[in-house]
Amino acid sequence: MTLIGESLRSALNEQVGHEFHNANIYMFMCAFLRNKGLDNLAKLFETQHEEEIGHGKEFVSLLTDLNADVFIPEIDEVNTQFISIVGLAQLYLDREMLTTTSLGEILKLAINDNNYVVEQKMREMIAKQQKEYEEATSFLDKASLLPEWWQCALWDAAGG
Ligand SMILES: [Fe+2]
Repeated sequence: MTLIGESLRSALNEQVGHEFHNANIYMFMCAFLRNKGLDNLAKLFETQHEEEIGHGKEFVSLLTDLNADVFIPEIDEVNTQFISIVGLAQLYLDREMLTTTSLGEILKLAINDNNYVVEQKMREMIAKQQKEYEEATSFLDKASLLPEWWQCALWDAAGG
């Protein structure tokens, strides 16, 4: 028997896709920065990629712990030519804001369903967004100070 309602199950499966899409976006940013010669800045996005894979796996585990069927939704392609580091940094922050909104919607569903286990898990996932915001806003602040690619090379040489 499953311990979760259908709409909540569906939302959690969609969230698996959202997290894996985040992972793909950050791997793309990592590769883009490597090809600009900005290997230290690229490493930050490699770490973000691994964190997002971890989040996706946490949602899969939540579903299987509740004996719910799992599906992995189709994930959109990522192929953006960033004109500047500021554009990349803005997409990073936008994506994290969208993730918080998405987690908040699932939290509301869990509260409506009296599914306390999912409710608690969503609060834990939302709490992690504080650190994600700290990292993304700090990156955007630095990008805004050093918007030209040659300035990014100095930023990268200082360790990223
Ligand atoms: Fe995430």
